[in-house]
Parts: sequence; structure tokens; C-alpha cells
Amino acid sequence: MNMFARMRAISVSLILALMVAGGLAAVSTGKQSKKEPAGDAAKGQVLFKQNCDLCHYPDRTDKKLGPGLKGLFSLKELPSSHKPVTEENVRAQIEAGSPDAKPMPMPPFKDKLKPAEMDALMAYLKTL
Ligand code: HEC
Repeated sequence: MNMFARMRAISVSLILALMVAGGLAAVSTGKQSKKEPAGDAAKGQVLFKQNCDLCHYPDRTDKKLGPGLKGLFSLKELPSSHKPVTEENVRAQIEAGSPDAKPMPMPPFKDKLKPAEMDALMAYLKTL
């Protein structure tokens, strides 16, 4: 390759790299602005997998051991208690659980999740 050809090859690949990077940046900012999670939804997803996934599907509405939570914040009412779907009621459910529910109780998470973890979990639940 002569010098011109090499310079052209370098600038073409540079432009391509910039286009890809720009595209990725647009995609990721687009995602964030869609739901604007208050906490860190990605951390919340990890917490969900560790604490909730055993009993709840995040991507289905049918029952695992507890109700599926897909679209939780777009429901008219909470699936078991039929209370309004508010951040307050969902937090209260997670903190207190449903220790008396039959046949399967939900454990309380008040002492298991730190306030920042609770915020992250709420941010994730809003993306379902
Ligand atoms: C051991 C199983 C189990 C685990 C773990 C569990 N849940 Fe549940 N969850 C249930 C059951 C069972 C119900 C239904 C309770 C009832 O009928 O009162 C429920 C109900 C719910 C509801 C609906 C409450 C309502 O008012 O309708 C939400 C929201 C929920 N769980 C979120 C979570 C989240 C978030 C986690 C993780 C931090 C979690 N659950 C962990 C079993 C579980």
C-alpha cells in the first residue's frame, strides 16, 4: 500500500469506529430516557435474581410461587392484594412480605436489603 491508500484506509476505519460508537451511545441514552429509573436498574436486576427470581418471573405474568411481575407498574392493581400499584405499596410488600400467605409465604426483606438496594430494586421493577 502506498501512503495515500494507507491514510485513506485509516480514516475510513476511524469514521466507521466513530459511527459505531455514536450509534451505541444513542441506543444507551435512549434506553435511559425511556423510563428514567431513579436508582440503578441494572443493580436492581442482580438483586432481583438473588432475592426474588426464585418465586417471581420478571418476564411473565403467570404464577411461579408468587405472581409473575411482568408489567407490574402498568397493572391496574397489585396481583395478590389488589391494592393500587404505587411505589409505596410495592415497597411495603417487599419490606413486610406476606408471611401468612398460603400455601407459600413471601419472606420480609426489610432487614435484608439496604435502602440503596431497595431503590435499585424499585428502579428495576419499573422496567418490567
Ligand atoms: C419464597 C417465595 C418468594 C420470594 C423469595 C419473594 N416473593 Fe414476592 N410473593 C410471593 C408470594 C407467595 C406472593 C403472594 C402473596 C399473597 O398472596 O399474599 C408474593 C407477592 C408479591 C407481590 C405482589 C403483592 C401484592 O400486593 O399483590 C410483589 C410485588 C412481590 N411479591 C415482589 C417480590 C420481590 C420484589 C421479591 C424480592 C425482593 C419477592 N417478591 C420475593 C413469594 C415470594
